[in-house]
Amino acid sequence: MRYPEETIQEVIALNDIVDVVSGYVQLNPRSGNHLGLCPFHSEKTPSFSVSQSKQMFYCFGCSTGGNVLTFIMKIENLDFMEALKTLADRVRYRLPEKEESASAKEQRASRERSAEINKRAARFYHDYLYSDTPDGENARKYLEERGVHPKLVMRFGLGLSPNLWDGLIKHLSDTSPEHIAAAGLATQNRKDATRYYDRFRSRLMFPIIDPRNRVVGFGGRIMGEPQDPDRQEAKYVNTPETSLFHKSDNLYGLNLARKARKTELIIVEGYMDVLAMHQWGFTNTVGVLGTALNDSHARLLKNAGCTSVVLMLDGDEAGIRATLRAIPTLTKGGIKIKTLNISEHDQQAKDPDEYLQRHGATPLAELIRNAKSHIAFQMGLSKEKYDMNTTDGRVGFTEEAAKLLSTLPSAIETEAYVAEISKISDISEGAIHTEINKQKGIAPTVMPNIRRRTRAAPQSRGVKKAKETLLHLVLSHHSAAVALEESGYIGPQEIDDGIYSELLALAFANAAAGKQVRPVDIISSFESGDFHQAITEIFIDAPEYNTDAAIEKALNETAFIIKRAWALNEMQKEDVKNNQETLQTLGFMVRNMPSISI
Ligand code: CTP
Ligand code: MN
Repeated sequence: MRYPEETIQEVIALNDIVDVVSGYVQLNPRSGNHLGLCPFHSEKTPSFSVSQSKQMFYCFGCSTGGNVLTFIMKIENLDFMEALKTLADRVRYRLPEKEESASAKEQRASRERSAEINKRAARFYHDYLYSDTPDGENARKYLEERGVHPKLVMRFGLGLSPNLWDGLIKHLSDTSPEHIAAAGLATQNRKDATRYYDRFRSRLMFPIIDPRNRVVGFGGRIMGEPQDPDRQEAKYVNTPETSLFHKSDNLYGLNLARKARKTELIIVEGYMDVLAMHQWGFTNTVGVLGTALNDSHARLLKNAGCTSVVLMLDGDEAGIRATLRAIPTLTKGGIKIKTLNISEHDQQAKDPDEYLQRHGATPLAELIRNAKSHIAFQMGLSKEKYDMNTTDGRVGFTEEAAKLLSTLPSAIETEAYVAEISKISDISEGAIHTEINKQKGIAPTVMPNIRRRTRAAPQSRGVKKAKETLLHLVLSHHSAAVALEESGYIGPQEIDDGIYSELLALAFANAAAGKQVRPVDIISSFESGDFHQAITEIFIDAPEYNTDAAIEKALNETAFIIKRAWALNEMQKEDVKNNQETLQTLGFMVRNMPSISI
């Protein structure tokens, strides 16, 4: 937690949840709560409920829930800190400065300065594009010829840099050239260090905006094709690495794509491709800035709520290599990958922009819908490696394909590919399955049995409810927490689930410290939105226990249900099953539950 608990609690207290949610959802008062249509899934009858007294929301349709911070995180696709800032800004609350070292302070000041300079530059370039000058007119014509609609020019804030050595420097006359250079917008003269030039001259300007809505850098394209080979004029010039801009930490268009609130994002290679995709309705598209996809990209994608991507990289060798490199990076980040090579479907179209100009959105949407998982992509490549007319070739291919499939978690997908490989290689499906299992390191015949037996019994609804009730009791009543901890009957092991054991520990700690924390604040002591839902479910319609006797009764009942479920599950375990002594101990534990008194 980077801000003190009190700060977060204050920001939450200042932002009434009904007020905030009403800005997004039409709410109607209904028996103490406010009801509306859930913005997180589509529905016709309202199951989205906001409780003013609890300051929580919960959807009985899709189970999304949390406090006002969770709501802003989900609806604006922000992370915890970004949501906190948004809510603080909303009520003009000044978040305290964090403790910083002197150099970190200077770094931050430099980043803020660069962001401010970039913002002014973006405005300057944009105004120049729309200026009544021959340059502006030319550039607008160029965009029109390339089919870029003015609406897109506005949405992406495109601009034009004047054909001058000091157009921007003059415009920012109140700013020192050193600072303009530090933002990457000017370059220092090599011989005369007191002189600076505009970096971008006579280029179409693409501002690059980060998830915090800062202009962090620019791409600048010449209009027309690079012609004079002697002058070595690059088609694109980009902001160099600065304290604010790291090209491998940004995705072009992500600021807009995250607003589409889709879990699947489309990744393309160029600025123009992002523009075209958005123009044709694929608003969930982002662009890589001429670099390989890396861990930072994976993090950015995940923060934007993305769980799967369609990679539309170029079909040339470089693009294939980039795709292959991206696969482990994104898979490791838990992002599913589909690939789509446009040129395979139209050889004349080398990128999505060209494809859209030629065919429009409908066939592309179809291609995207049918894009194959990265496994198919890799299988296609390995097929080309082997001569399928020879037995050796077919065996080699099948072994390689089986190795790929052994990494696939979905049995259904595996089944589909096995059928396909079998057809291509003329090797039986059974033999391919055997090979896959071998790659997984599983002995062929015992495999299904082992897997079935070791899997834990799914938690029944009754047990989950008992855990929720028990946590509600110990988090709301110190006496219950103290009594439960002293009894030693239920600990993190019995309550198992990740977030549940953390909540139990929190209840014990709060009780020991005599600290009362409201449920709404418990939610935001965890940064992950996934936890918020689980915590909300504990509190959203929990019954109130008014007497010690009622608390004690509920505590004992739920503790027993949880302990019994845990012990039964333990007994199923392979190493316990044949161990009479352990079995007896477990049985004894369940039968001889101590009575917990508060
Ligand atoms: N790129 C770059 N520097 C270059 C060339 C390319 O940074 N000198 C990056 C840019 O992000 C560019 C992407 O690589 O958008 C793809 O390059 P390319 O396919 O050449 O350009 P397009 O975006 O397709 O632009 P256009 O259609 O205008 O040619
Ligand atoms: Mn292009």
